[in-house]
Order: sequence, then structure tokens, then C-alpha cells
Amino acid sequence: MENREAVIEELERIKPTHVLNCAGCTGRPNVDWCEDNKAATIRSNVIGTLNLADACEQRGVHISVFATGCIYAYDDAHPIGGPGFLETDPANFSGSFYSATKLRVEEIMMNYPNVLCLRLRMPVSDDLHPRNFVTKITKYERVVDVPNSNTILHDLLPAAILLAENNETGVYNFTNPGAISHNEVLGLFKNIVRPEFEWKNFSLEQQSLVIKAGRSNCMLDTGKLVRKLEEYGFEVPEVHDAYEQCFKRMVENGVE
Ligand SMILES: NC(=O)c1ccc[n+]([C@@H]2O[C@H](COP(=O)([O-])OP(=O)(O)OC[C@H]3O[C@@H](n4cnc5c(N)ncnc54)[C@H](OP(=O)(O)O)[C@@H]3O)[C@@H](O)[C@H]2O)c1
Repeated sequence: MENREAVIEELERIKPTHVLNCAGCTGRPNVDWCEDNKAATIRSNVIGTLNLADACEQRGVHISVFATGCIYAYDDAHPIGGPGFLETDPANFSGSFYSATKLRVEEIMMNYPNVLCLRLRMPVSDDLHPRNFVTKITKYERVVDVPNSNTILHDLLPAAILLAENNETGVYNFTNPGAISHNEVLGLFKNIVRPEFEWKNFSLEQQSLVIKAGRSNCMLDTGKLVRKLEEYGFEVPEVHDAYEQCFKRMVENGVE
């Protein structure tokens, strides 16, 4: 995406009606990497993302951007258990350089009329891919316990296609409704997938001692998404139900 000429060449060759942009720089092994590699992070998350959106705009091509909801953190107006953040709420979390690039690029990108911006959080696949949020937290030595919005991909990827096909644009919080804590996720995982699984918690203060960049914890309001999908007769399950179904599918599919 950083190479504008190559992006244009590809668009001219394929002549797509729609583009789905799932690319971005999240860092390895985690977002702390972005703190030490700011130029590379900007090239991908800012220059690259805008290059692609811009080249699509010039050709009248619809683009769906798989963006992030990690641009918010619980605050006095949005405490744990309180109302979620609306699409119209200004971002209030730039505690990591990763989030700082993402929130600024979203703000600028949304001036393009051809962009559908889908804000995912902590994506969960039906397998135990290393990038699955569940895989990640089962491998941590210690895990915090905070309710968050999560995106169960089985439920939401079909919704992304539906919105793109219908040329919807604008920003959508793109998670299952509700919030679920780490312990609730791991408890369901233990009950349904791996009975012998055990884990240890630590506090947010203790976590802050072993990470370089801050981490976003928040619940996004999904009202706008749910209402839009209802227009197409499509429902998204509440996050606890969605996890239960996801873990049952894992068992059915022999994932361990
Ligand atoms: N994972 C999460 O928890 C999460 C949550 C919310 C939103 N997101 C967003 O979802 C997107 C994908 O995240 P992910 O977790 O799937 O990351 P990932 O596993 O690191 O995959 C990112 C992909 O983007 C490609 N890429 C990066 N920079 C690129 C560029 N400049 N041009 C072309 N391709 C580029 C990478 O290609 P190479 O392998 O060749 O480098 C890789 O295939 C990101 O924008 C991220 O912000 C992720």
C-alpha cells in the first residue's frame, strides 16, 4: 500500500468494484513494536491506508477498511458497565503509537465519500490461529480481567460483505453487542473447549510494568451497526452467546 504506483497499477489491472483493506501494521510480537518503529508504522497505517483509499476514490471504487476500535478507553462518561462509545464520540485513547496512527487516519479518511470504516476489536476466529484473541490470552503468563467489546469473525465477516455489497459508507463499531471480560472468555473456553485449562490474573497496574505502550479497554456501542444490519434481515449475537457458539464450533471442528 505504501507504493502508490503499484497500488494504482493493481487497481487498473483488476478493475474491482470493491476493495477490502485488511492490511495494517500491528507490530510483532505486539503493539509495543510500533513504539520503536514509528516510521514503518506511519508508512503502513497512515500513508499506505490513505494511498489505497485515495486511489479508490479517484476511480469511484468502494473500499471497506478493517480498522480498529482501540481508540477509546473507559472514562467517567463511559465507565465499565455504562454506555458504550458511539461512532460520533471523539477518540480518547492514544496511549500507544499504534492507536495514535489509527485514530488520526480514521479522522482524515472519513472525508472520502467511498469509505466504509469497520472498527474491529480483539478479533476472534473459529480456530486457534496465533492471531486469535483467545489464543493470545491463553498463552500469556498472566492476564488482566476487564470487560471489552470483541469481534467474533464468524458473525461479523458476512456482515462486512453485506455492507460492502450494498455500498454502505461511514464509520461502524464492528463488534458483537455487549462486553465480555477476559475471565469470562477463559471460563467459557475452559468449560467448552479445554477443561484442563488454568490461568493466572494480574492487575492493570502490574500489567503496565511489563508493557511499553498503553492498551485500550472499552465497550463500543453497536446500535448503529445492529440497526443497519436489521435493514438487511441480518442479526449479530450478543458477545457471550457468540463466544459460546464459537467455542462449540471449535469442538465440533476438532480444534483443541
Ligand atoms: N489483531 C487485532 O487485534 C486487530 C484489532 C482491530 C483491528 N485490527 C486491524 O486489522 C488490520 C489487520 O490486523 P491483523 O491483526 O490481521 O494484522 P497482521 O496479522 O499483522 O496482518 C497484517 C497484514 O497486513 C499486511 N500489511 C501491513 N502493512 C502493509 C502495507 N503497507 N502494504 C500491504 N500490506 C501490508 C501484512 O503483510 P506482511 O505480512 O507482508 O507484512 C499482513 O498480511 C490492521 O489494520 C489492524 O489495525 C487488528
